[in-house]
Amino acid sequence: MSLQTIKMAFLANFSKVKVSRIIAPASHRGKSVQQLKAKQKPIRAYSSDVKVLEVKNCVKTTNTEIKCGIDRKLFTPGPVMVSDRVKRAMLHDVGTRHADFTYVIKFIRQALLQVANVTSDSHTAVLLNGSGTMATEAMLQTVIPRKDKKMLVMVNGIYGQRIGQLCNKLNINCDVISHDLTLLEQRLSSADDIIGVMAVQCETSSGMINPVEEIGSVVKGISPDCLYFVDAVTSFGAIPVRMTNIDFLISCANKSLQSVPGISFVVADKETLQKHRGKGSGMVLDVADQCDELDRTGQFRFTPPTHAMLAFKEALLEHIKEGRVEGRAKRFRDNASTLKSEMTKMGFRQLIDDEKNPNGYFVTSFVHPINPLFVFEEFYQRLSDRGHVICPDRSNLPNSFRIGCMGDLYPRDMQNLVDCIEVVCSDMGINLPMDNRPL
Ligand SMILES: Cc1ncc(COP(=O)(O)O)c(C=O)c1O
Repeated sequence: MSLQTIKMAFLANFSKVKVSRIIAPASHRGKSVQQLKAKQKPIRAYSSDVKVLEVKNCVKTTNTEIKCGIDRKLFTPGPVMVSDRVKRAMLHDVGTRHADFTYVIKFIRQALLQVANVTSDSHTAVLLNGSGTMATEAMLQTVIPRKDKKMLVMVNGIYGQRIGQLCNKLNINCDVISHDLTLLEQRLSSADDIIGVMAVQCETSSGMINPVEEIGSVVKGISPDCLYFVDAVTSFGAIPVRMTNIDFLISCANKSLQSVPGISFVVADKETLQKHRGKGSGMVLDVADQCDELDRTGQFRFTPPTHAMLAFKEALLEHIKEGRVEGRAKRFRDNASTLKSEMTKMGFRQLIDDEKNPNGYFVTSFVHPINPLFVFEEFYQRLSDRGHVICPDRSNLPNSFRIGCMGDLYPRDMQNLVDCIEVVCSDMGINLPMDNRPL
C-alpha cells in the first residue's frame, strides 16, 4: 500500500478525530483531521486498521494497536529516536560491491576512529551486522581462550550481568565482581590466570556511569598484558573516552550516535587484535576475519545492511555537525537537566544523586512515589496514550522507573514530556507536588 493510500484510508476512517496537542506538529495543533484534509496538510499515518479513540483532545490508541498512525516520542535508551534526515537516507538502494558503498564503509570506519580519538595507525573500527550484545559475543569469542584463563567482569547492573552470562554460554571461565577498584586491584594482584577484564561505561539499567578510564589504569598498571574490554554501547559518541588502556571498545549505531539499529562495531587496538585472534570457533562472529576483509576489499564478508549503513553515514555527519562528542554530550546534558529539575519540582526523587553520578545524562532512574495512587503500569500507559513512551520495564533496582534523555530529543521535548507527566498525575488523582522524602 502506498503512503498516499494509507494516508487517505486514515483520513477517511478517522476524520472526526482531533489531533493531539502533544503528538502533532505545531501546525496541526487543535485542528481536526477533516480540517487538515481540507488544507491538504500531511499527516503521519502508516496503517489504516488502528482503532483510535478520542480522549480529551488527544488521540488514543488501544494497547495492542502498535501499527498505529502515530509516531510517539521515545524517551528510552534504545532504540532511540533518529532524525528524519537519517531515516530519509535509507530511501536509496546501493550495490554492495559498488564504489559508492565502499566509500560509505570507509567513511564510517574513519569517522568512528575520530569519535574514539584514535587514528588508523594504531586502531581499527570493525563493523558488524547485529546488535551490541552480538558484537560483545563476537569480540570475546575471537580473542579469549576457553581453557585455563579467566575473565573478570565488573557488574553493577543488568548489562554487566549479561556479559557474565555470555561468558558462561561461551564456556569462558568468568568471575563477576562489583564495581570496586580496590577489589579489582586485589583480584588482579593475587591471580595470574586473568586474561581479560570487562566493564560497562553507561550501565543503562540504572543510568550509572562507571569510571572506565580509571579501571583501565588499574588493569594495565597491575597486568599490562591483561586485555581490557569496554561496553560503550549506550555512551559512545556522547561522553569522551580515552582509548589509552582500552584494547577493545564495543558499541552500536543506534544509541548516542543516533542511527537506526542493526549495526554494531568494535574499535580495536590493531596489534592486540592480531596477537590474540583465533581463539573462537565461529565463522560469522570472528571480529579479526571481518577486519581482514574490510581492510583487504573494503567490504563486509557477508550481506551488509546497506540501507542502515547509508543511515549510519548520515547520522555520523549529524554528529559532526552537532559538535561531535562535546556537542552531543551538551544536548543530552541539557535534556537531562530539564527532566530532572521539572521532575524534582513535581516531587519525583532520583534514584541516584547527581553528585554520585555527575555524567548521568543518558538515562535517569526515578523512585516510585510512595503515593498508593501511583501504579507504574497505568502511568506508563497513560503517557503512551498521550504520545510519550518511557522505559516500559522497571529498572534493575526495585521500585524505580527510567526515562531516557538520548536520541533525537531536545529540551523542548523533555518539557513536553514533563508537562504530560503533570497531566497524567492529575488524571490519576495524584496531587502535585508530592512528598518525596525517603521512607
Ligand atoms: C550498556 C549496554 N550494553 C549492551 C546492550 C545490549 O545491546 P543490544 O540490545 O543492542 O544487544 C545494551 C542495550 O541497551 C546496553 O545498554
